Order: sequence, then structure tokens, then C-alpha cells
Amino acid sequence: MTEAIERPASAAPPWEYASAPESTDIVRLDDRYGLFIGGEFVEPKSGRWFPTISPATEETLAEVAEADAADVARAVDAARDAAPAWRALAPAERAKYVFRIARQLQERAREFAVLESLNGGKPIKESRDVDIPLAAAHFFYYAGWADKLEYAFPARGTPAPVGVAGQIIPWNFPLLMAAWKLAPALAAGNTTVLKPAETTPLTALLLAQVMQEAELPGGVVNIVTGAGETGAALVDAPVDKIAFTGSTEVGKIIRRSTAGTGKRLTLELGGKAANIVFEDAPLDQAVEGVINGIFFNQGHVCCAGSRLLVQEPVFDALLGKLKDRLQTLRVGDPLDKNTDVGAINSRAQLEKIEELVESGVEEGAEIYQPECLLPERGFWFRPTLFTGVSQSHRIAREEIFGPVLSILTFRTVDEAVEKANNTPYGLSAGVWTEKGSRILHMAQRLRAGVVWANTFNRFDPTSPFGGYKESGFGREGGLHGLEPYLTFDGGAR
Ligand code: NAI
Ligand code: MG
Repeated sequence: MTEAIERPASAAPPWEYASAPESTDIVRLDDRYGLFIGGEFVEPKSGRWFPTISPATEETLAEVAEADAADVARAVDAARDAAPAWRALAPAERAKYVFRIARQLQERAREFAVLESLNGGKPIKESRDVDIPLAAAHFFYYAGWADKLEYAFPARGTPAPVGVAGQIIPWNFPLLMAAWKLAPALAAGNTTVLKPAETTPLTALLLAQVMQEAELPGGVVNIVTGAGETGAALVDAPVDKIAFTGSTEVGKIIRRSTAGTGKRLTLELGGKAANIVFEDAPLDQAVEGVINGIFFNQGHVCCAGSRLLVQEPVFDALLGKLKDRLQTLRVGDPLDKNTDVGAINSRAQLEKIEELVESGVEEGAEIYQPECLLPERGFWFRPTLFTGVSQSHRIAREEIFGPVLSILTFRTVDEAVEKANNTPYGLSAGVWTEKGSRILHMAQRLRAGVVWANTFNRFDPTSPFGGYKESGFGREGGLHGLEPYLTFDGGAR
């Protein structure tokens, strides 16, 4: 096995980067944020508040209300009260509000990006170039459908909104997940109650201010903050639909508690995606895709390419290149524009990653981590590779949701398919090869909702996203993402 290529002693020292921190002046935080109900920020009936921190420094950014069941009921009532007028609005009028939200997001993009990185720990270059522009793109895309719903689903009868949607989102893409949920719901004429994740509520609360500026009628969007109990109260509340993104564990709980209630449900859960590199792949390009696939957003990505499957003839070459590339990743301050890998989102997530990495070492896989200094405070984890991984290892089976790549090898196409599909999940996969026919062959046989070819982690509002098996059901994005928010009367179902 070749080791990382060593730099000749005579080579010039690598370039040093000067720090390039994004200023936080643009973000003005309140000391406390109430619940957003009926178009206003209100005090929680629970009387409870909790701090929200920066995971990079552990400093408190603000206090946020913790909604109890009575608060959630109040938000659902507000959504119910707002539903008839919102549903009755001319679709083109409804679209105007959604377009307004999209434009506001673009105008305030920098503010949103800085706040997202402060509260969640992701590198500013990602929040700036991916999260915020994509969130705006989702509002633009769905706004365009609002007055064309009968053309979107021809021969299905008259489309109508489902009613009140309860939407529960995770902490890895806080604003983007809010956009995935809210944009199609609003365009289809529903009203909503959104619950952000407990570690990352701040961009959703800034979005609430955008809703006010857009003069969205009060009660059409309500935002209740809190943790799992608040989420469970929303699932149990009299809503017509639940949309959830998060862990498979909680997805199963929600599936059980909604069974038999008539509530519609979509679940977007975990993943353990195979990123498959064939011997004919352009290796340098594949290296970038593999790095992006697992280290983007610290690996806190449900569709992360966390299992690398490499065809044996190129294993040594690819591993050498990956190790070299790992050395160049800059880990640290999320607000520094040069940072590649930011802070782990929470202490709890860091402990989960550490536990799984320890299991990898104990079960006999070989660990590789680059030398890099980590900040003293905050939650950090070095980019990590494991070789010598077998399919039975926990690090090959369980979602780590961190910057940790498990590398396995294969010889034949059939073996690649079998290994890739040997998982309880089925959200995404990647294929790296020069052969178009092989890409099509693999795409048909991989049990994954999304298969990327010679790229990874590409998202577009027009493209459906979602999983098989324990990755959940239902699709978000595209027309597929609009459909769960509509009922059809008269047409074929
Ligand atoms: P989680 O599933 O507990 O949290 C996601 C959302 O669900 C949060 O808003 C949370 O407050 C809410 N929630 C928690 N318990 C609930 C309940 N009983 N009823 C209703 N809502 C509830 O995920 P957690 O604990 O933050 O992360 C654990 C693991 O889950 C991660 O390590 C990762 O493997 C996976 N995960 C997957 C995500 C994805 O995008 N598919 C996102 C977040 C986590
Ligand atoms: Mg949890």
C-alpha cells in the first residue's frame, strides 16, 4: 500500500493562509426570541427558555422559547384560523408572497449566511454559496408553481391544499430544510407550524422576520422552538400532515404515533451512502468528489458519501491522493472564508462521532487522521479515514453523521452493487466511471433515491430527493415535493 507522497526536502514550504474572518456586524441578535404565532413573536405559555450557542466557541448567542403542548396547540390553532383565507386567495396572489420571501432571502443573504454559520458551525463558504442560495431557489421554484397546480398534475382532478402541515426539521441545514418544507406547503395553499431543531433555531427565527416584512398574513407560517418534546407535541396535535427530516429512530416513533390517525406523513431519515469509484474513473476528479461527499458540512449530511467503495486496481493510488488531500483541509473557525471543515454541531453529536470512531479502532479498522491543530473551545473532530473496513464493522453500517469515511474495496461490478446495497438505508449513491453505459447500469441497480454520476452532493429545487427503506418515504423537491401538500378531487389517484 502506498503512503501519502512525501514532499521532497527541497520543496518550498506550503503557502500559509492569513485568516479571513467574515464580520458578524451584519447580524443583530435579540437577547431572547419568543414563539412566532399568528404573525407575532409571543411569550411562551410554558414560561421556559433555553440558550442557543455557537458550537465553535460554546458562547451563548441568545435565549429561545421552549414551546410546550399548550404553546404548540396555540400555533396549530393560528394555522387553522389562517387556512380558509390563505386557501381562498387567488393562486397568483399567493405566489407573490412566496416570491417576496425568496427575494428577501437573496437581499439578506449575507446576514443569513453569517447567522447560519454562527449558530450551526458550518463553514461560511458553504452557508454563503450553498445553503442560502439554495433556500432562496426553493422559494422561487415553488412560487412559480402556485398558479399552475392543475397543469403540474394533469388528469388528477382539482388540486386543493391538505390543510395544516406540521413540519419538523434537523440542525444540519437549518434554513435550507425550512425552505424545503415551507416553500411547497405555501405554494400549494397550506398553512404550517414549523419546529426547528433545538441547536439551530436562529435562522428560522430570522426567516420569521422575513415573513413579517413580506406581509405574509398572520398564522400562515408559525414557528415553535423547542426540542423533542415540542416536536412530539406537534406530531400529536390536530394537523393534517407531518413532514419530518431527522433520525431514523425518531422517524419510527412518528410513524407509530401517526398510524391510524389519517395524518399524512413524509419521512426523510438517515443514510449510509456508497460512493463507488471504478478503475476507469478520472482519479483526481473522484478525489474531489469523495472529499466533498464526506467532509461537506462536517459530514452532517444524510446523503453523505460515508462508505467509499474502490475497485481494487486503483485502491493504492486513490488512497494516496486522498491522504494528501486530507492534509490540505483547513479545520477551524466557521466564519473564516478559508475554512473547509467547521465545528461539530453539538457536544452530543461530537460524542456520537467519537464513540463510533472508537468502535472502528476496536473492531480492527485502520484509522488515518491528518495533523491539524484544533481550537481549544468548541466542538471539533479531525477529518478521518478508515481502511481495512469490513462490512460487519459498525463504521460500515451505522450513520456516523460526522467527518469520517469508511473505505472498502471491490473487484467486480456485481460486488460493488451488492456491497452498496448492503445497508438498511437507501438515500443516495455516487458512481465514478468513464463509461456512460456503466453509469446507467449502476443507477438501475442501486437502491438509492438519488444516484450521482461523476459528482456528489448536488442539489436542485427541480429534482426530487428522498429515500428507500430506513431512509424514509416521500420525496422533497420538484413536483414530487409538491404532491404531498395537495389533495385531488375528481381525478384518478
Ligand atoms: P433527531 O431526529 O432527534 O432530531 C431531528 C428533529 O426532530 C429535531 O427538530 C428534534 O427536536 C426533533 N425530535 C426529536 N425527538 C422527537 C420526537 N420524539 N418527536 C418529534 N420530533 C422530535 O436527531 P438528533 O438526535 O439531533 O441526531 C441523531 C442522529 O440522527 C444524528 O447523529 C444523525 O445520524 C441522524 N440525523 C439525520 C438527519 C437527516 O438529515 N436525515 C438530521 C439530523 C440527524
Ligand atoms: Mg434525537
